[in-house]
Formats: sequence, C-alpha cells, structure tokens
Amino acid sequence: MSTAARTDSMLKEGTFEGKTVLITGGGTGLGRSMGRYLLELGGNLVICGRRGEVVEKTAAELEQETGGHVLAQACDVRDPQQVEALIESAYERFGRVDGLVNNAAGNFICPTERLSYNAFNVVVDIVLKGTYNCTLAMGKRWIADQTPGAMLSITTTYAWTGSGYVVPSAVAKAGVLILTRSLAVEWGKYGIRLNSIAPGPFPTEGAWSRLMPPQLADQFAPEKRIPLKRFGEHQELSILAGDLLADYAAYVTGEVVTIDGGEWLRGAGEFSDLEVVTPEQWDQLQAVMKPKKSDKPQA
Ligand code: HXC
Ligand code: NAP
Repeated sequence: MSTAARTDSMLKEGTFEGKTVLITGGGTGLGRSMGRYLLELGGNLVICGRRGEVVEKTAAELEQETGGHVLAQACDVRDPQQVEALIESAYERFGRVDGLVNNAAGNFICPTERLSYNAFNVVVDIVLKGTYNCTLAMGKRWIADQTPGAMLSITTTYAWTGSGYVVPSAVAKAGVLILTRSLAVEWGKYGIRLNSIAPGPFPTEGAWSRLMPPQLADQFAPEKRIPLKRFGEHQELSILAGDLLADYAAYVTGEVVTIDGGEWLRGAGEFSDLEVVTPEQWDQLQAVMKPKKSDKPQA
C-alpha cells in the first residue's frame, strides 16, 4: 500500500499552468474547494455566483492563499446574457477558457405536494437551465474558435435513482446528466469533453442548512447509511474534478463518476440492513437456519 494521504494531489504540479477554468457557484462550498485545488495546480480561475460580494471575498482569499489569479463576477446562471458577459470577461482577463464546471445549484427538502409552482421552477431554473445556459454559451465559443475544452457538471446519485423530498433537484440533475451524455457524443468531433461527478453527502453550509436540519439529525443520521461510515472530504472531490478536467483524461467523455462512499448502492441493496445483525445473532440464526450435513439424505 502507498503511504500517500487520500487528500494528496494525484496530478503533477503545474498541471493547469496557463489554463483557465470557470466554476459556477465557485464562491462557496464544493465550488470554492475545487477552485482552490485548480489554483494550487497552476490554473487561472473564474468564479461566479448571484452574490457579487461573496465571490469577490472568496477570490481575494484564494489569491492570498495560493498566489494564483482569480476573476470573480456576479452572474446569475439563469440569465443567458449574464452568462455570455461572464465568459467575455474571462477571455478579456485570461485570453482563454479551457474548462467549465457547472457547479451552481439550488435545492431544499420539501414534500412535493407542499411546493409552489415557483418553488419547483426556481430549482429547475438554476440547476438545469443554468447548466444548459453555461454549457451552450461555452460550447458555442469553443466551436467558433476551434478550440477544445472540458466540461464537468456536478450532479448527484439521485440523478438516476430519483429521490422523494427533493423532486425538483432530482428532475433537474437527471436532465443535466442526460445533457452531459448527449453533448459528449454530439460535440466529441469538436474536441469538447463533457463528464459529470455524482457526489453523495459532502458537508457544506449551503447543503447542510437546506437538506440536513439538526432537528432531524438523529432520525436521519446519513453517515450511518454510508458503507464507508463517513461523509466525503472536499479535497477528495476536488481531486476527482481535477482528474476529469485535466488532459490526462483526454479519452474520457460522457462519463459520470460516483463519489459517495457506496451510499446509493447500499440504498439499492435488498439486504443491506443486515449490517445491524451482530456475530452472536448470526450464530443463533445459523444454528436454526443452516442445514446440517447430517440432515441431508445420503446418496
Ligand atoms: C418550500 C421553499 C423553500 C423550502 C424556498 N421555497 N425554500 N419552499 N420549502 N425550504 C420556495 C419559496 O417559498 C418561493 O416560492 C420559491 O421557493 C423561491 O424561493 P426564494 O427564496 O424566493 O428564491 P431564491 O432567493 O432565488 O433562492 C433559491 C433557493 C435557495 C433555491 C430557494 O435555497 C438558494 O438560494 N439556494 C442556493 C444554494 C443551495 O441551494 N445550495 C445547496 C445545494 S446542495 P413562492 O411560491 O413562495 O414564491 C445540493 C445537494 C444535492 O444540491 C445532493 C445531496 C446529497
Ligand atoms: P453551495 O455552497 O450552496 O453552492 C451552491 C453555489 O451555487 C453557491 O455558491 C451559490 O451562490 C451558487 N448559485 C446558486 N444559484 C445560482 C445562480 N442562479 N447563479 C449563479 N450561482 C448560483 O452548495 P454545495 O454543497 O457546495 O453544492 C455544490 C454543488 O454540489 C451543487 O451542484 C450541488 O447540487 C452538488 N452536490 C452537493 C452535495 C453536498 O453534499 N454538498 C452532494 C451532491 C451534489 P449564490 O447564492 O451567491 O448565487
């Protein structure tokens, strides 16, 4: 076994030297963590969010911490004109954009019958249409300029299983996954790669405040359902994002990589709850249930 820590970079120093990556929702949470990692690997970074003051503060902090260059701009991904203006600013500042991470999202838990039409729309508009707006604007630019590029969309594991109580998000993330697979085929001829990461739970203020209320913590205890018995660490996801954006993954497209400690498969497994059976209980059960050789008819 290697002695490398699970949060060490797998990529060479300078992997993103001279390259620029745009991360939507890069001012907070996982977007911020991915941005930091790409800066550490030598990349230039562009981040956006609706709140200009949040992305500007993050940009200043990341520049200070890494010595890299960050452009921060307020941009609502639901508005195609703001998205085009953001991409224009990125080209003005850095002369090129090589990667796009569709990370911005909106989500909250709510029984579906309690949702207003606007509540459903607001999530779908941010997650699906926002991703579509950014993907289309970036793709058009790369195709017109005849430059290759890599896109990465952060979905989640219920993009293919579905999930109650977060139905607008599930519908939207499923759409993002299909957008990824569809365009991976259609835009392959332009040298544009599209992949997705499907995380399980990674603690962030944005997600926890809307999806993991402390009042439900004991009943819910999601980390107990995860086979690896812990939440993900931001750097684990950042490493995966870096791998998929880098040219080392030049032959990987249309893929979705799950990073959830085994959570969704455990949820799907018929007998996963047998995990709670103790060795003593297995002894008792097997004493009753396991056929004895002596009970079998002799040949
Ligand atoms: C029911 C709600 C609600 C809630 C808002 N609404 N929160 N309905 N339960 N908890 C309704 C409002 O009443 C309103 O409908 C409509 O939704 C829009 O709400 P606003 O507050 O006006 O919208 P806005 O200010 O634009 O905020 C958007 C948001 C908010 C999506 C509602 O949560 C947000 O800004 N989120 C961004 C960050 C985020 O969500 N991060 C978490 C991502 S984690 P009416 O009809 O009253 O007008 C993630 C993890 C996935 O995706 C997987 C985990 C394993
Ligand atoms: P987060 O910190 O709340 O990140 C969401 C970001 O999106 C915020 O910075 C927010 O900034 C931005 N955003 C929201 N609406 C926007 C809009 N209309 N235009 C531009 N930016 C917008 O949450 P997170 O946990 O890091 O989530 C990041 C990504 O990971 C999301 O795609 C999420 O679905 C996915 N994910 C997270 C988890 C998890 O457990 N954390 C699990 C699975 C998937 P503003 O509010 O300033 O706009």
